[in-house]
Amino acid sequence: MRVVVLGSAAGGGFPQWNSNGASCRRARAGDPAAVPRTQTGLAVSEDGKRWFLVNASPDLREQIGRSPFLHPRLPARAERHSPIAGVILTGADVDAIAGLLTLRERHAFTLYATKRVLAVLDANPIFEVLARPVVDRRAVALGERVVLGEALAVELFATPGKTPLYLESDDAPPITVDGVTVGAALSDAAGTVLFVPSCAAMTPELKARIEDARLVFFDATLWRDDEMILQGAGAKTGRRMGHMSLSGPEGTLAAFADVEGPEKILIHINNTNPILLADSRERAEVERAGWRVAFDGQEIVT
Ligand code: MLT
Ligand code: MN
Repeated sequence: MRVVVLGSAAGGGFPQWNSNGASCRRARAGDPAAVPRTQTGLAVSEDGKRWFLVNASPDLREQIGRSPFLHPRLPARAERHSPIAGVILTGADVDAIAGLLTLRERHAFTLYATKRVLAVLDANPIFEVLARPVVDRRAVALGERVVLGEALAVELFATPGKTPLYLESDDAPPITVDGVTVGAALSDAAGTVLFVPSCAAMTPELKARIEDARLVFFDATLWRDDEMILQGAGAKTGRRMGHMSLSGPEGTLAAFADVEGPEKILIHINNTNPILLADSRERAEVERAGWRVAFDGQEIVT
């Protein structure tokens, strides 16, 4: 399996267009220790020819442009072609679905998502630009094994999460484990790669799944729960946004402390998270704990 990180930042990207925070200013100034990142998504293939995207971020057009393996290929004289055979969605947040609008133009592909996520698309007529006779919307049940190729398959599994921000009412939405946010388990003969860009809490089921995996990409939205408040970037805690934070007794580093086995890569990193800075104490700390920090263009062959 080939896995390419198309984007590694959380919603807003790094630098975020309206953030004047210190990290974003360093990224904008070209500081080599503050490398810009687009919003999170993966591309996955078993043969390097047919590719599946996992999430379609608002930056998808730019991500395709800088990824030659996603450019039109044979048949050489055809006016339109794309190696993109499908898109797998792990949620309905803006940063996971807005790039679907980039994929209009009558290219045939299959959209794989849970019923909960497809219902959100169905209720938004703008997504009808993906003409239904051309783009098949395939509901995937939690735990179902969906064949993507000769050996490549995907399974979606529920992770603790909440309704997308734009569907929230005034009351804080409950954290549920019902398919509104999911992880993707991509597997072939070499093992399983987990993609978990949004997770509100570690559960015993999730931990067992991680321990069996070969590689896990995991939610790294915030370093600390009150980071956005401390940096004047917003009023919400990580918990309120449905994300575990990296530090603290209930944080991701603690939750993974006794996990042995998989390679571990942090992804979906918010522009306030100090691990984005190569010279930060927090970056050193996650690396000491055995994590790598995802970057755009990172490629893994399993
Ligand atoms: C999230 O990851 O919490 C969401 O993508 C936030 C958002 O919709 O901007
Ligand atoms: Mn997000």
